[in-house]
Amino acid sequence: MNSNLLNTASYINGKWLNGQGPAFQVNNPALGEEICTINGANENDTVSAVDAATAALPAWRAKTAKQRSAILRRWYELIMENEDELARIITAEQGKPLAEAKGEIAYGANYIEWFAEEAKRIYGDTIPGASSSSRIVVIKQGIGVVSAITPWNFPNAMITRKAAPALAAGCTFIVKAACETPLSALALAELGERAGIPAGVFNVVVGQEAEKIGAVLTTDPRIAKFSFTGSTEVGKKLLAQCATTVKKTSMELGGNAPFIVFDDANVDEAVKGAVISKFRNAGQTCVCTNRIFVQQGIYNAFVEKLSNAVSQLKLGNGMDNGVDVGPMINKDAIKSVQSLVDDAISDGAQVNMGGGLSKLGELYFEPTVLVNVTPSMNVATEEIFGPVAPIIKFNTEEEAVALANNTDAGLACYIYTRDIGRVWRVSEALEYGMVGINEGIISNEMAPFGGVKQSGIGREGSKYGLDDYLEIKYLCMGGLDG
Ligand code: SIN
Repeated sequence: MNSNLLNTASYINGKWLNGQGPAFQVNNPALGEEICTINGANENDTVSAVDAATAALPAWRAKTAKQRSAILRRWYELIMENEDELARIITAEQGKPLAEAKGEIAYGANYIEWFAEEAKRIYGDTIPGASSSSRIVVIKQGIGVVSAITPWNFPNAMITRKAAPALAAGCTFIVKAACETPLSALALAELGERAGIPAGVFNVVVGQEAEKIGAVLTTDPRIAKFSFTGSTEVGKKLLAQCATTVKKTSMELGGNAPFIVFDDANVDEAVKGAVISKFRNAGQTCVCTNRIFVQQGIYNAFVEKLSNAVSQLKLGNGMDNGVDVGPMINKDAIKSVQSLVDDAISDGAQVNMGGGLSKLGELYFEPTVLVNVTPSMNVATEEIFGPVAPIIKFNTEEEAVALANNTDAGLACYIYTRDIGRVWRVSEALEYGMVGINEGIISNEMAPFGGVKQSGIGREGSKYGLDDYLEIKYLCMGGLDG
């Protein structure tokens, strides 16, 4: 792959590091070919990244908010100037269609633009004192060194969503990028350097020894905060590791999103929403629809129209024109999706569309629609993370809410109805952090992204997104009587 944004080693303290860990390959899932070999980092290199972030902290936090804001703004502009090239890197290493990859670049860059603006609005409070001679002043300060582990499904945006508020708040940052998709992270480092981010403020570790690298990032006492996007299973382990040094944490974990279509919904809009929410990134996002609940009066019309829409989705190499759904990330992902589909079929579900591997190759799973699904099937209780849409029929509003809430997950959910009373009733009853109402895509930098229950802790983006990177300090000012 030809690109002046292509780097193949960790970026630590403003330098491309000759890592001490094992080298590893980055593959193009669409072609099954190697893109390049990465010079891997190990745990010692990760400690060097913590050294660098710790050393860089005093000077970065001493800059004015306006100075930090200007550097972030420049980073945003450089990313947007290189949008096409960055999108090609995402498609090559991750597989999503080029138009979607371009969407991710803008989505990711928007977090940087947003927090460049918010950097200047980190306000405190003045509170009447407990006596006439005192006042209470509250200030907010950046928490310190922040570490993060990010996933392969959004190799750009999941980094910017964490790094931008951290840097805006005056924190320094170390991210371990996913081994499947390190090139997008390293390209961000390259552009960050060109934007003027000082050495040690933004560090990217790429290495295969995930447990050892993760142990440094979750236990080093110099790190004040850890942020993770990934599975609930891994998140729980990392959370336990963070407990040893009582780190503040943000956890953006797995979902099991219900998509509820009521009898009064606009069926065409509901189908459009279901397709985008289910098949975005080949179903590999934590906010992807996982279970589609359809009320009995609209069931037949919805199933027919959804199957028709899914039959028109073009599966293929994301670099090719007109492709809607790309390959899945690796063989394990294919295996897990196939086993959920096979289990559902043996438990009585019917395949309306797709159901298995396409002839295009071993990582291409056909967009699939399953009917006669019941809520207890594995395909409905587990996070699918693939292009499979299971449909379940329901009768009443109460039943739909109870079914939707019957899970440990609580990230995103979606409802389609034109009844305003129902919109409020159901939105308030659903135990989720985010509710799409007649909308299948809800993520943007202005809104608070995050989940409840076992889907996570904290919010990313929006005016709330800075809070996770700030500490509140109370100043008790006495002796004011003179
Ligand atoms: C994720 O899958 O983790 C993020 C999805 C999004 O930002 O919309």
